[in-house]
Amino acid sequence: MSETLIVQEVATRDGFQIEPVFVETAEKIRLIDALAAAGFSRIEVSSFVSPKAVPALSDAAEVFAGLTRRPGTVYVALVPNPRGAERALQAKVDEINLVASVSETHNRANMGMTPAASLEGFARIVETVRGSGVGVNATVATAFGCPFEGDQPVDKVLAQVERYRALGVDGVTLADTTGMANPRQVAHLVERVLPSVGAAGLTLHFHNTRGLGLANVLAAYQAGARRFDAALGGLGGCPFAPGATGNICTEDLVSMAHEMGLATGLDLAALIDLARDLPRLVGHDVPGQVAKAGRPCDLHPAPPLKAA
Ligand code: COA
Ligand code: ZN
Repeated sequence: MSETLIVQEVATRDGFQIEPVFVETAEKIRLIDALAAAGFSRIEVSSFVSPKAVPALSDAAEVFAGLTRRPGTVYVALVPNPRGAERALQAKVDEINLVASVSETHNRANMGMTPAASLEGFARIVETVRGSGVGVNATVATAFGCPFEGDQPVDKVLAQVERYRALGVDGVTLADTTGMANPRQVAHLVERVLPSVGAAGLTLHFHNTRGLGLANVLAAYQAGARRFDAALGGLGGCPFAPGATGNICTEDLVSMAHEMGLATGLDLAALIDLARDLPRLVGHDVPGQVAKAGRPCDLHPAPPLKAA
C-alpha cells in the first residue's frame, strides 16, 4: 500500500472569511460540491460565528442546506461558542471544529474572550454534542507563534491539547495562524503531540505567510503527521491577526505529494481547473503556483529546430 497524505480543504472557510467581497451563496455551494467531487474526504465548509465578526460567512446555514452531500466526505464547520454549536447542529454538520488560541491576546482579538472562557464554552458544547453522531475537532490557534505575543511556550500548547483530550474530542489541530512556524519547530511539536493524539487524530494547519508552508508540511510528515489543512489557490487568513495571509495552497500541496509518490485520493487536474476559476470569484489573482505553471507532467512543445 502506498503512503498517504490526507488533505482537508478549507478555502470556503479560511479562504473566504478574509475576502472583502461576499462570494454568492450559490457560488460557494457549487465550489464545495465540485471540491467533494474532486475527492476530498474532509471539507471545512464555513463558520458559525458572529455575522458581525465575519460577514463573508454569514450564509453558513444556507450553504449547508444547499450542499449535495457526497458519501465519503465529512462536512465540517468552525464553531467559536455554544451559540455557534447550536446553529451548526441545526445545519446538520458532520463535524464541528472548535477554535481557541494558545495566546490570550490573539484569542481576545479573535473571539472576544480569554482562552479559558473559550474552553469553558467548549466543555458545554461537547456535553451537548455527545451522542449525536456529530464529530468534534478542536484547534489550538497560534500554536507556533502569535502576531502580538510572539513565541508561545511548548508546554502551554501541550496543556491546551491535553485540555481538549480531556473533553473527549475526536481530533486536534495545531494551527500556525500567521505563518510563524519553521520546520524544526514543527517536527518537535508533532513529536511531542503524536504519542497522545495519534496520527489519525492530528491535523496540521499551516499558512504560507513567510514561504515555509510546504517545508513545514514535509517536516510534519517526516515526524509522523498525515493530515493537513490547505486552501484552494492558497486563499486564506485570519481577519483578526495583523499581516495574515493565505493557507498553504491545496493544489501545490497535492502536486508535491503526488510527485513524491504519496497518495491523496484527489484529482489534481480537477483542482487546478477549480483554482483557475477563483480570481473570478474573489476578484483578484491568487497565490497558488501549480495552477499557473501547470503540473510537472504538463510539458511544452519543443521549439522548432533552427536551420544550421
Ligand atoms: N453565531 C451567530 N451570532 C452570534 C454567535 C454565533 N456563534 N455568537 C454570538 N453571536 C451574536 C450574539 O447573538 C450578539 O448579537 P447581537 O449583537 O445582535 O445581540 C453578537 O453576536 C455579540 O455576541 P457576544 O456574545 O457579545 O459576542 P462577541 O461580540 O464578544 O463575539 C464571538 C464573540 C466569538 C461570537 C465573535 O468574536 C466571533 O464570531 N468570532 C469569530 C472570529 C473568526 O471567525 N475568526 C476567524 C477564524 S479563527
Ligand atoms: Zn487559518
